Amino acid sequence: MTPPTPNHALEIIELNKAFGGLRVTQNISLKILQGERRLIIGPNGAGKTTLFNQISGDMRPNSGTIKLFGTDVTALAPYRRAHLGLSRTYQIITLFTADTLEHNVTLGLLGLRPSRWQMWRPLSFYRDLASEARRTLDTVGLLHLADHPVSEIAYGEKRRVELAMALAQKPRVLLLDEPLAGLSNSERTTVKSLIASIPRQTTVIMIEHDMDTALDLAETVTLLNYGRVIVDGARNAVIADERTREVYLGD
Ligand SMILES: Nc1ncnc2c1ncn2[C@@H]1O[C@H](COP(=O)(O)OP(=O)(O)OP(=O)(O)O)[C@@H](O)[C@H]1O
Ligand SMILES: [Mg+2]
Repeated sequence: MTPPTPNHALEIIELNKAFGGLRVTQNISLKILQGERRLIIGPNGAGKTTLFNQISGDMRPNSGTIKLFGTDVTALAPYRRAHLGLSRTYQIITLFTADTLEHNVTLGLLGLRPSRWQMWRPLSFYRDLASEARRTLDTVGLLHLADHPVSEIAYGEKRRVELAMALAQKPRVLLLDEPLAGLSNSERTTVKSLIASIPRQTTVIMIEHDMDTALDLAETVTLLNYGRVIVDGARNAVIADERTREVYLGD
């Protein structure tokens, strides 16, 4: 008998994280359904990236539980969470700048596989990976730069490479940390339609300050302030909420 599929992609229960005396995540509980588009907002320093770091396993919480598709992953290493379908981008670019775009995306694909330490692979394995990497670069409109080192390309293009790497893993849950930050208007339009085209099998959780663009992509919104959930729910209800105005919209 197969067990019933849990309908939550992500469940966070009473999560706490402090740096010294600073409580950056304070008793956060969240439930995100499979396929949901969730936007996380809040002022600088609200704890948004720190929350992502705990979900991805880059940081351990002091207490609380994180479940991915019903499985408790709180103590699991980041790569084990990746095997369960979790993928993320970073607010700060983390690419290997001396390497080509193709090689960066290929490494991203390899990082996903448990067999990544097996160096003796048939050549065709690496050829397949490289063509998968090139296909992915094509989807973000960067195939023409595949053989260039990352150090030569523009900032907005680097952000698209990171998004390509995350998408190449065909994640079941994708965490995007300010994917639109620092982009020009035309790059913003490109990345926005790219995010909008992510298939429903992927749950998308996005931190973003650019509300004009991000709200269109969101179904539900969570507002954080000083490490706490202040408002959480359907997009329009959160936007209309007095507390959102007070904390974030500043009017
Ligand atoms: N590794 C760390 N050590 C100490 N303090 C940290 C660490 N990481 C984050 N902080 C602090 O935790 C608080 C929340 O930081 P975080 O990066 O999560 O905020 P954020 O909501 O993502 O902000 P922004 O919108 O500016 O990206 C800040 O006060 C930050 O200085
Ligand atoms: Mg941040």
